[in-house]
Amino acid sequence: MGKEEAILVVDIGTTKICALIGEEREGKLWVTGMGVVPSKGLKKGIIINIEEATLSIKSAIEKAKGQAKVNVKSVYTSIAGSHIKTVSGMGVVALKEKQVTSLEVQEVLESAQAIELPPDRTILHVIPQEFIVDQHRGILHPVGMTGMRLEAHVQFITANRSVLQNLIRCFEKLNLEIEGIVFQGIASAEAVLTPEEKELGVVLIDFGGGTTDIICFWDNVLRFVSSIPVGGELLTNDLAIGLRTSRTEAERLKIQSGVCLKELVQDEEIVEVPGIGNRPSKKLSRKVLAEILELRVRELLELVEAELSNFGDKMKITSGLVLTGGSALIPGLIYLADQILDLPTRIGYPPKLPGLTEEIYHPQYATAVGLLLYAYSALETEAEVKSKGKSLWERIKELIKSKF
Ligand SMILES: Nc1ncnc2c1ncn2[C@@H]1O[C@H](COP(=O)(O)OP(=O)(O)OP(=O)(O)O)[C@@H](O)[C@H]1O
Ligand SMILES: [Mg+2]
Repeated sequence: MGKEEAILVVDIGTTKICALIGEEREGKLWVTGMGVVPSKGLKKGIIINIEEATLSIKSAIEKAKGQAKVNVKSVYTSIAGSHIKTVSGMGVVALKEKQVTSLEVQEVLESAQAIELPPDRTILHVIPQEFIVDQHRGILHPVGMTGMRLEAHVQFITANRSVLQNLIRCFEKLNLEIEGIVFQGIASAEAVLTPEEKELGVVLIDFGGGTTDIICFWDNVLRFVSSIPVGGELLTNDLAIGLRTSRTEAERLKIQSGVCLKELVQDEEIVEVPGIGNRPSKKLSRKVLAEILELRVRELLELVEAELSNFGDKMKITSGLVLTGGSALIPGLIYLADQILDLPTRIGYPPKLPGLTEEIYHPQYATAVGLLLYAYSALETEAEVKSKGKSLWERIKELIKSKF
């Protein structure tokens, strides 16, 4: 695939599948096609019904292709869910010419990948944390440095092999070649974080429908990721149970009148809650709605706080917290996040790429837009990687195939 061709990306969310087509025009990436359909066959970020999920993916892609009026043969897609984990590793090589070359950087990263992983896990991303040349630590770009020995400390983002395989099957059924599978949090970060934030230290929370993905950066390096199987669908569920109404009505009430901080609601504010079946609707204080949502959002933020404290380096998060994903829009969330995580918070919107600018300018499209940016920049490095040997993704494909 070259830059003259269209790029197709598909974000597989728990509530919606979003396909985007990007094309390069006058040196810029344009969004020329977009297809969004409700997700079928997914639960908490994971495919649980291949037939249904494939149909949803197909229909999102067809919509995007119809709009862009191009044909595409390959795709970048996304993955999330609580099976995503980070594992540390290290590699070491002797420097033959006493100077680090890019080939040796590749070798040291490959030697790090020799770690023993449980048989059900596959490496999805290899993130170098630092290189050490002889005794000099904290090096990010070692090429050209003089020394005897090159060491690399890396974080691996790993995924469950069967979950990954089910995702791959959906695209195989559609005769699409997968160019890459990206953790959804990494894709969202690509879309909403600024270079300054990544440098100074930032936590990104992608608060979606079925999962909440967490990612941390500092010194321009991705340090930690996690995916909690809790999202906006659970808020809708809580409302449906608490207010005794259908999920459809609960979802509507959440979007129209939902707020996750009761102080934001006046005592006299009333909402109408339709009954289930032919039961009459009832009037309820909006404060009740806020109380239900606040309880669950607090609980979720406490889970995030626990994940960050396990990780242990919160002091390094100098710039603060960025919230994205569809559920980031619930009023009161910025205040609660600021209070519970003690980090200055903002909402992360994807950048306004030329083309379908208005349509994609929403936190729930952060992952899809990030995926497109990721795929676009991967095209630049692709030729280089190919000339050096197999890419990580090619090896993932071989590994997965060899086990099934
Ligand atoms: N204005 C809003 N207020 C509150 N919640 C909202 C709003 N708009 C969207 N949502 C919620 O956002 C969720 C969908 O977000 P998003 O599209 O980011 O999820 P997804 O990508 O499908 O799922 P995931 O990434 O978790 O697998 C839904 O639960 C929806 O109710
Ligand atoms: Mg999502």
